[in-house]
Amino acid sequence: MRISLRFVIPLILALLAVAYGVVPLVDKLTLRWAVRDLDIRAELIANTVVEPLDDLLKAGSNRKAIAFLTRLTQDERLYAVGVCLAPDSPPWATPTLPEEIRCGDLGRWTGASAHLIDSAKGPLHVAVREAPLSGAPLAALVLVHDMSFVARRSEETQRYVFYVFTTLAALVSLITVVIAQLSWRGWVAGMRALLRGEGLLRQPANLAQQAPEFRPIARDLQRLIQEMETDLRTRDDSQVTWNPEALRGILHGELRGDDVIVVSNREPYIHQRQGNAVALHRPASGLVTALEPIMRACSGVWIAHGSGSADRETVDRHDRVAVPPEAPAYQLRRVWLSPEEEAGYYYGFANEGLWPLCHIAHVRPIFRSSDWQHYVEVNRLFAQAVVEEARTRAPIVLVQDYHFALLPRMVRELLPEATIITFWHIPWPNPESFAICPFAEEILKGLLGSSILGFHTQFHCNNFVDTVDRTLEARVDREALTVSLGGKLTAVRRYPISIEWPPNAEILARPLAECRAALRRENGLPEDLLLGIGVDRMDYTKGIAERFRAVERLLELHPEWAGRFCFIQIAAPTRSRIEEYQHHQQRIEALAAEINTRHTRNGVAPILLKASHHEPRQVYEYFRAADLCFVSSLHDGMNLVAKEFVAARDDERGVLILSRFTGAARELPEALIVNPYDADQCAAALHLALTMPASEQRDRMRLMRGLVADFNVYRWAGRMLLDAALMRRRNRLLETPVGQSPSPPKS
Ligand code: F6P
Repeated sequence: MRISLRFVIPLILALLAVAYGVVPLVDKLTLRWAVRDLDIRAELIANTVVEPLDDLLKAGSNRKAIAFLTRLTQDERLYAVGVCLAPDSPPWATPTLPEEIRCGDLGRWTGASAHLIDSAKGPLHVAVREAPLSGAPLAALVLVHDMSFVARRSEETQRYVFYVFTTLAALVSLITVVIAQLSWRGWVAGMRALLRGEGLLRQPANLAQQAPEFRPIARDLQRLIQEMETDLRTRDDSQVTWNPEALRGILHGELRGDDVIVVSNREPYIHQRQGNAVALHRPASGLVTALEPIMRACSGVWIAHGSGSADRETVDRHDRVAVPPEAPAYQLRRVWLSPEEEAGYYYGFANEGLWPLCHIAHVRPIFRSSDWQHYVEVNRLFAQAVVEEARTRAPIVLVQDYHFALLPRMVRELLPEATIITFWHIPWPNPESFAICPFAEEILKGLLGSSILGFHTQFHCNNFVDTVDRTLEARVDREALTVSLGGKLTAVRRYPISIEWPPNAEILARPLAECRAALRRENGLPEDLLLGIGVDRMDYTKGIAERFRAVERLLELHPEWAGRFCFIQIAAPTRSRIEEYQHHQQRIEALAAEINTRHTRNGVAPILLKASHHEPRQVYEYFRAADLCFVSSLHDGMNLVAKEFVAARDDERGVLILSRFTGAARELPEALIVNPYDADQCAAALHLALTMPASEQRDRMRLMRGLVADFNVYRWAGRMLLDAALMRRRNRLLETPVGQSPSPPKS
């Protein structure tokens, strides 16, 4: 509509101008030129004929003279010729001479310009010229020209002028339309870029530079769309029953069955050689706990480091093994690392560098350039594995954790159409703390290869965005929480991780009373003893020492608990090749022994340290047997132990004491929230937990169970997959030329 108007209006204006301005002007000019030409012509003819005419008259041959004049009128334009010898006699003339020309009033036709006659024949031009003839010195020659050719010529000229002007007008209109169209497209493209978040964020050619007047509109639009999306998300979220079917629904519906590839360092199933047999282990890892049920629901491929001693024996020729072994649901693709690579990438850079850097737990990070080299190489190795496992050009790649900060960018370079969702399971420190990393820039750039970068809490999202802002020449949009680097946009989002809900019936199979009795019996503890439980990897970030100090302080402040309360700490050995971890384990063991020496009563030690790996089922039995669970991390992204304890308590009993420095504390305020560095406060919380009435325990537990039930791990994954689907849909739409529907996914 707009285009046709833009074309038609200038055209109509041009035609009106031609009709009312140009055509009359052309008419006038043509007539003036014609009259002037005929004047000149008449002059020429008069000069030419006077002499022969005079000769004929002198010879007395009037008849011949008239014949001569008639011959002259054979000329196409000369209509009539006459000679006036005297004013009172009729002219000698050709028969065509108009009657109104009389020799007596020739003055009427003389003068600077000739006069016109409108005869039946059409317009005629009359020119009177002196013709001094012998015997009639005042004789005059009258030359009458036919002017109909002028009208024809004028008509022709008008037609040409009309065509020329119409063509010109059409051309001008067309150019106007093309220019307008181009600038409209540019504007639309700019707006689209803005809506993608790029326009305002992209560095070199952003819309803000091209069309600053559109910036406020674009911002408003962007905000509006974000609000709508958030609204839609919240509504969708709460309407869905989050379970494996819901995830499958998203994958097959929203994502049209696109392939899902998970990348993590730790594998979900480890095959270990034990003599002649091969044993299967499930590692103590929150990440594995969260992702395993999702992979069961979604199928796909999980790429991880094959770290078990029997891992190579159990894979096929493509280094894959179908898991879980009892009911295969997805493929585990193992990547092999040399001892040097593992030492540099995993023990070195990831766990001696990034781990303490991000946790700020008073252990100095160590950055060795040799570790960094291995970290880069191993990230590349895994990126290659992603490409090998991708069935399409645009898979959904779920990158897990700080082991793979460089991988998103590497995958982006190899598979530009992939949707890469990176989840950082540990905290992200403030910019000052992060700045001490010598490879800060590379790590940030690597992560910004992601389409979506997720953290557990908003606080960590903000820390990340602040760090980017401080370190890189990137565009940061704090409202939308997006970062644009080199025109590539990364959305930074909060996805609080969770656990499977409802919990696997198998791990809750043993009745509570049985768990209580059996575990007390197996550990040589009195039946009526109150039990506290802590379950962690033996990691200095978990605050195990602080927990023990709190138990000690409880016994100092409330000695009546000695012999009546025992705290069981399950601590799975971890990263034991790292010196800091070795020292930590020694310190923990010494501390437990020291406290036990001082506070053992009636053969009951206050602390029972179990520094060994426990399978999930055993862990849940401890949770169900305990009266309280103490999570005292000094800094933790989320801490799933807190949620697992809540999930284990289907009797709605038991008290959770939770460090305020965990992500979980933001979601579970009904726990007793403590500062693990404050031993007195922790001791008071322990006392409160041990004396809390059953009704209060139930009220608190009910609320916490409600939250974990609502926000389970399926919702965590589903939320990310829905965002990925939304992003993919939007990108497809924005890449599609106007007026065409988006093409189906390429495969
Ligand atoms: O918390 C970060 C994390 O990767 C967790 O996801 C997991 O529980 C733990 O570290 C496992 O550590 P590792 O694989 O080094 O034993």
